[in-house]
Amino acid sequence: MKVYLDNAATTPLDPAVLDAMLPMMKKHFGNPSSIHAYGREVRSAIENARKTVARLLHVSPSEIFFTSGGTEANNTAIQCTVRDLGIRHAISSKIEHHNVLHTLEELEKEGKIKLSFVNLDSKGTVDLNHLEELLKDNARTLVSLMHANNEIGNLLPIRKVGEICMKYDAIFHSDTVQTMCHYPFDLQDLNVHFVSCAAHKFHGPKGIGFLYINSKIKIQPFIFGGAQERNMRGGTENVYGIVGLAKAMEIAYEQLDEHTAHIVGLKKYMAEQLQEHIHGVEFNGSLFDNCLYTVLNVSFPPSDISEMLLFNLDISGVAASGGSACSSGSEVGSHVLTALKVNPERPSVRFSFSKYTTKDEIDFAVAKLRELFAVKV
Ligand SMILES: Cc1ncc(COP(=O)(O)O)c(C=O)c1O
Repeated sequence: MKVYLDNAATTPLDPAVLDAMLPMMKKHFGNPSSIHAYGREVRSAIENARKTVARLLHVSPSEIFFTSGGTEANNTAIQCTVRDLGIRHAISSKIEHHNVLHTLEELEKEGKIKLSFVNLDSKGTVDLNHLEELLKDNARTLVSLMHANNEIGNLLPIRKVGEICMKYDAIFHSDTVQTMCHYPFDLQDLNVHFVSCAAHKFHGPKGIGFLYINSKIKIQPFIFGGAQERNMRGGTENVYGIVGLAKAMEIAYEQLDEHTAHIVGLKKYMAEQLQEHIHGVEFNGSLFDNCLYTVLNVSFPPSDISEMLLFNLDISGVAASGGSACSSGSEVGSHVLTALKVNPERPSVRFSFSKYTTKDEIDFAVAKLRELFAVKV
């Protein structure tokens, strides 16, 4: 048996998504910028996909810009805000995904912004009072805080942060790559200027995502070269990807409650099984309250298999992902666990679930972990 518990890294394509994409690969090959019939039919597929995304998020289609995924969407939001909106100060957190963190750090290195980090507690929760203090003391600011952390799953109170940003006239960008299509969003009702999406996190294809840009924000293109995406992103569109993204999103929204209940149940079950059968198991981040339901980050007791835990799991047929806290500057561990001062002696494993994960698979993974720890601890 082989068990895939790494759905926060990527998810398998839904066969219905593939079915929606295939005609765009096999038959409708026109360039969407061409004005003849071949082009027009593909253009119409793109615009229908945009309308689907916009309808599900309660925004206007003109606020959705397709990108190559989450990294490009987040880079566009951050770099263009600094370049075009006169922003000289940014607030973020030390546990953001590197696509946000490295972008902000680069802008700071280039002398374009001052970068402040908001305080976090040991579970990764943002200190909202500190956020207000940082906003009070500075000129117009970009706040970039992720909706859910991809390693430990903790959730940002996005509505509250939006209200704080509005109070201080700050630009608010949230990396929603891990939460898009896992929670309903009414973007009109949140004071957020940018959110990002990557379709492969919800059974869509890789290499496609989008950036939502609130219509109040006026930025210049990030990629120059053509008039695509209303002059905002040059380059012939990833037509199959766009069609697949919209289909994956439609399916996710249709079955959101059902899949959420299924995955929440599996997470709870796995947490209980681990606590019952492996002595000394703890969890990184908060387990259920304000935590992304698809992610369970487990901290195992120190043992002589610590170093090889993920490797052993892989050999046993269980795919998960790791990341221990760094114990020295030269080690490359998880910057998230290091920032939260998680004990580097304890190996951490992120298990992440999808609608396709089954209870039998959880039983299999727990049995393998029990074998590993029974022998070695
Ligand atoms: C929170 C978060 N942001 C951004 C990304 C980047 O997305 P992509 O790989 O589609 O560019 C990821 C992917 O792992 C992620 O988890």
